[in-house]
Amino acid sequence: MKRFILVVFGFVMTVSTSVFAAGGSNDALDTVHMNMSDKASLQRGAKLFVNYCLSCHSAEYSRYARVAEDLDIPLWQLKENLMFTTEKEGDLMKTTMPAEDAKEWFGVAPPDLTLVSRVRKPNWVYTYLRAFYQDESSPSGWNNSLFENVAMPHAMFELQGVQRLVGKIDKVEAGAIDAHAAGPELAENQKLVGDAIFELVHPGKMSPVEFDQAMTDLTSFLAYLAEPAQLQRKTIGVYTLLFLILLTMLCYLLKKEYWRDVH
Ligand code: HEC
Repeated sequence: MKRFILVVFGFVMTVSTSVFAAGGSNDALDTVHMNMSDKASLQRGAKLFVNYCLSCHSAEYSRYARVAEDLDIPLWQLKENLMFTTEKEGDLMKTTMPAEDAKEWFGVAPPDLTLVSRVRKPNWVYTYLRAFYQDESSPSGWNNSLFENVAMPHAMFELQGVQRLVGKIDKVEAGAIDAHAAGPELAENQKLVGDAIFELVHPGKMSPVEFDQAMTDLTSFLAYLAEPAQLQRKTIGVYTLLFLILLTMLCYLLKKEYWRDVH
C-alpha cells in the first residue's frame, strides 16, 4: 500500500512539474533575475509603472497606501512621484482612461495588471516588455515578437529606443542559450530577445543594459503586485521557525520534569 501511494505521488509530482515548467506554451523566454528584497529596485519599478503604464492599465486590486508601506516609500514621495490619478493615498491604482474609449482606440481594452505576473509569469512579462519593434504594417506602428500583432503600442520607446526585427532563430535553440549554449553571432547594435534578433535603429534615453535593468525593476514590481504578501513571508517564516525551536525546548524541559519522579 505504502509503495502504491509513493508511486502515485511520484507520478503526480512528475506530471505537475512538467506542466508548470512548460508554462502551457513553448515561447522562448529570457530569464529575469529579480530580487524581491531589493526595495530600491521595487521602488524604481513602481515609478515606471505609474509613469508609463497607468495611463492605460489599472492595478485595481492595489492601493497606493499599501504599496507605499510595503516598499518603504515616504508619504510625501508617494504624493509627489507616484500619485497622478488621485489625491487620496487610500485609493485603488486605477487608470483614468475610460474602458469604452480604450476599446475603441486599441480594439481591446488594456487588461488590469495586478495579477498579470501570476497569469503570464515574470519571464514572459520581462521578455514581452523588451520585445517591441517598429512595424509600419500594424495600426499602432508597433509589433511585438512574443505577442504577434499586439494592440499595445510600445509605451517606453523613448527609454529603449526604436528596434527593428532582423530575424528569428529556432525556439528550441533560443531556449537553450540561457542555460548553456552560445547565442548566434550578433552585430554590435543587435540584441537577442527571446527568439528574436533586433537591431537598435534609434537609441533611447537608456542604454540596452540600463533598459534591461529597468525592465527587471518593472517586472519585479508587477510580481510584487500579484502577491504583496511575499515581501513579509520570509520574515514570518524566520519568526515561525524561532518559535518552533523555543517550543521544542520548552516541551523537552517539561517532559524531563514530568518523568523525573517516574525514573
Ligand atoms: C497606450 C496604452 C497602453 C500603455 C501606455 C500600456 N499598455 Fe499594456 N496593453 C495595452 C493594450 C491595449 C493591451 C492589450 C493588447 C492585446 O490584447 O492585443 C496591453 C497588454 C499588455 C500586457 C499583456 C497582458 C496579457 O496578459 O495579455 C502586458 C503585460 C502589458 N500590457 C503591460 C504593460 C506595461 C508594464 C506597461 C507600462 C510600461 C503598459 N502595458 C503600457 C495598452 C497599453
